Amino acid sequence: MRGEKMNESIRKDFPFLKRKIRGKPIIYFDNTASTQKPQVMIDALKDFYENHYANIHRGIYTLSQEASEMYEKAHDKVAKFIGARGREEIIFTRNTTESLNLVAHSLNLKKGDEVIITEMEHHSNMIPWMMLKDKGVKLKFLEVDKNGEIVLDKLPSLITKNTKVISCVHMSNFLGTINPVEKIGKIAKENGIIFVVDGAQSVPHMPINVKKINCDFLAFSAHKMCGPTGIGVLYGKKEILENMKPFLGGGDMINEVDYEGYTTHTLPWKFEAGTANIADGYAFGVAIDYLSKIGMDNIWKHEQKLTKFVLEKLMQMKNVEIYGPLDWKKRGGLVSFNVKGMEAHDVAGILDNRANICVRSGHHCAMPMHKKLGVNGSVRASFYLYNTEKEIEVFIKHLNEIVNVFG
Ligand SMILES: Cc1ncc(COP(=O)(O)O)c(C=O)c1O
Repeated sequence: MRGEKMNESIRKDFPFLKRKIRGKPIIYFDNTASTQKPQVMIDALKDFYENHYANIHRGIYTLSQEASEMYEKAHDKVAKFIGARGREEIIFTRNTTESLNLVAHSLNLKKGDEVIITEMEHHSNMIPWMMLKDKGVKLKFLEVDKNGEIVLDKLPSLITKNTKVISCVHMSNFLGTINPVEKIGKIAKENGIIFVVDGAQSVPHMPINVKKINCDFLAFSAHKMCGPTGIGVLYGKKEILENMKPFLGGGDMINEVDYEGYTTHTLPWKFEAGTANIADGYAFGVAIDYLSKIGMDNIWKHEQKLTKFVLEKLMQMKNVEIYGPLDWKKRGGLVSFNVKGMEAHDVAGILDNRANICVRSGHHCAMPMHKKLGVNGSVRASFYLYNTEKEIEVFIKHLNEIVNVFG
């Protein structure tokens, strides 16, 4: 199935599209924050609680073993989805934020060590590293130019013998920029530096292979890719995870305990302390099956088409300032902008009021980058597999009216 036909059949999978507010359908363009859910994932969650629920890894009884297997298999699905070697490299966390905190706090960085991130990072890939300043770890920023692209040529000059980590967002949730992670990964590897990728906005939207990127860690969230909230992933290279201390201690992450101490469980369970988010973990696997069936290549192509379409329309509008690269090939399926003379929240409020167009307004957890551009916030429209050109046309029509009346 291709193009419009595929899109039509995908839309039938999402019950929220039947919902109306003020008698009108919803145009959901806040997919960067979180995506809507297909029926198959919702059903899986219900079925798990109705028919398969028990705590995992502890019961000898059949039901517990069944639940354990269903939860564990979701790790295998994620591993396959991103080209990891197996479940031992897939840790389930709560979200991207927790995954990045886990890395930052478990790498055992010391006074004098240096970490490089970019100026366009989401707070989730900034604050965990900033928190290490208390330990004497130094944080450096790779510059972002006026087109919203990193200045890769400057990376070598930031690297010293003390650089231990480079951590970088794959696709910016504010600028939409897709960063050249393969190139950054190569530079990191040549210098013996750990390479961390924030894949919160790339893994849900494009085919990803961790071997190709050559990253040591990759973080992402299920809720941004048709899965439930409360489940995130930290992919880590097995050799590194084996030598890393767990971030949390307690039940399920141990092998042996006595009054003197403990030994840890095998990977990935060593990093999944306490009762896991069992049902959501299982349902995430179902969401992965759903996306894989459609094909990440198809999803990516569809979003690129929408990005090109919306950018061309926005670029024709007077009084609209767009952030990030203007070349659609350099970005993912989102666009952040401001209407000159208007507050971002006002634009978002009017779009909602007039046509249930759900866009995000504010700093999108990228406050330093907004400050660098001299703005308090922006409006962000972001797309996913169920969005259409028709929806974008409605959005552009209303935005045009807003610009003409208020801008
Ligand atoms: C690039 C990026 N990194 C990290 C996050 C944090 O994700 P979560 O809130 O699921 O932890 C987001 C969320 O929008 C994001 O866009």
